[in-house]
Amino acid sequence: MSKTISGFSKLSKSKKIDWIVDTYFSNKEAAKTVLKQYWNSNEKLQQLHDEFIENTITNYYLPLGVAPNFLINDKTYTIPMAIEESSVVAAASKAAKFWSDRGGFKAEVISTTKIGQVHFIFNGETEKLKSFFNSTKSKLIEDTHAITKNMQARGGGILDIELRDKTNAIEGYYQLHATFETLDAMGANFINSCLEQFAKTLKTEAESKLNNSIEIVMSILSNYVPDCLVKAEVSCPVNALSDDNSITGEDFANKFLQAVNIAEVEPYRAVTHNKGIMNGIDAVVLATGNDFRAVEAGVHAYASRNGVYSSLTHAEVKDGIFKFWIEIPLALGTVGGLTSLHPLVKLSLEMLNKPSAKELMQIVAVAGLAQNFAAIRSLITTGIQQGHMKMHLMNILNQFEATLEEKEQLVEHFKSNTITHSAVIEAIENLRR
Ligand code: MEV
Repeated sequence: MSKTISGFSKLSKSKKIDWIVDTYFSNKEAAKTVLKQYWNSNEKLQQLHDEFIENTITNYYLPLGVAPNFLINDKTYTIPMAIEESSVVAAASKAAKFWSDRGGFKAEVISTTKIGQVHFIFNGETEKLKSFFNSTKSKLIEDTHAITKNMQARGGGILDIELRDKTNAIEGYYQLHATFETLDAMGANFINSCLEQFAKTLKTEAESKLNNSIEIVMSILSNYVPDCLVKAEVSCPVNALSDDNSITGEDFANKFLQAVNIAEVEPYRAVTHNKGIMNGIDAVVLATGNDFRAVEAGVHAYASRNGVYSSLTHAEVKDGIFKFWIEIPLALGTVGGLTSLHPLVKLSLEMLNKPSAKELMQIVAVAGLAQNFAAIRSLITTGIQQGHMKMHLMNILNQFEATLEEKEQLVEHFKSNTITHSAVIEAIENLRR
C-alpha cells in the first residue's frame, strides 16, 4: 500500500482513519479501537476539537492537575497544570505550601511591549529611505485604523514604528521594527495583521515615491519579547529555610546559592535548570490555552541575551535574608485564541479568577520559580530520583497492568524500599507468584 496520498485533507474523518489504519497497521481493528476510545461521546465537543486543526483523527489527552496553596501578592491561587511528567505537580504543590508559610510569592510585571517586524530589501541610498520613512510613518499608522480601532479604544495599539538599517548584516536589508501594546490578548493576529498592512502601505507608497525600489520579504511578529517582562520572588530569613533536622538553614542557603551560581555560569547545567523552570511554566501556559512554543522560544532567547546561555533564576543572601527570584519574558493572553473556545481552558481561567494577562504573567512566572525551587531543593538534599521514582512508580505499575490491590501492596512495600524499574518488576513478579 502506497504511503503517499493526495487530497487527504478532503477525506472525511472516517476515511482518513481507514487510510491510516490500512497503510500502517497490521491489526487494523485494534488501531481503530485505540483511536476511537479517545473520541468524546459529546458530538459537539468532539467537533470543536476536530476543528482546532486539520486532519484530526482523535484527541491526545494530557492530565490536567492542580497545585493548590499558591500565595501570590497576598492572594491564594490553585494553579491548573497540564503536563505528563509525573513529579511536576507534586513538586509545585510542595513548593507552594513551603512558601505560603513564609510570606508567599511576590510578583510584578515590569513591561508589556510586544514586537513585530516587516523585513524588506532596498538597494538605494539609506538617506533617501530614511526621509521616505519619516514622511510615510503617519500613513503607515493611519492605514491600520480598521485593525487597531477596537484595541485602541481599550487603551492598546501600535506604540511606535522604527526604520532599522540592517545592511551591515545583509546587503540592502532593512526593517520596520514596530512595538505594540495588546492588553489582555496575546496579540499574534492583531500584530501580524498590522504588519501585513504596513507592508502593503510601504510597497504602495514606494511605488510612486521611491521608484518602486522596495521588495518586501516578510511581515511577522517576534516571539522574542524582552520588553514583556515579569519578575517573581520569594524571600525569608536564612534560618527559616530548613523545615526538618536534616540540614540547617545556613547550609541549605549556601548549597542553594552554589547550585544557582553553577547554572548562571555553566550552560550544560543552565539548560537543565531552565528545563525544570519550563516544567512549571509550560504546564500553566498549556492549561490556560496559551502558545507554549512561543513562550519557550522567547524564554530561551532571553536566557542567552548576554551571549552565553544562563540561568533564568537568581539567588542571594543579604543581612540574613535568603532571596530567590526569576525574571522572564512572557507574552500571554487571557482573551482571544483558545481562551473562550476550549472548555478546559475556560475552566482553568475561571479557577484562576479570570486573570488579566498581567496577572497571568505573574502566576506563570511564580509556577516556574516554584518548580525551580523544588528541583534545586531535591537536587542539593535527597537527589531527585527519590521523589521522581515515587511518582513514577504508578506508571510502572500501570505498564504491568497491576490491579488496585496489587498497587496498594506495592506502594506500601516501596515506602521502605528503593524504587528502581527492575525492583518494581521483581516485586510485581514476587507478588504474582
Ligand atoms: C526534570 O524534568 C527537571 C530537573 O532536571 C530540573 C533540574 O535539574 O533543575 C529536575
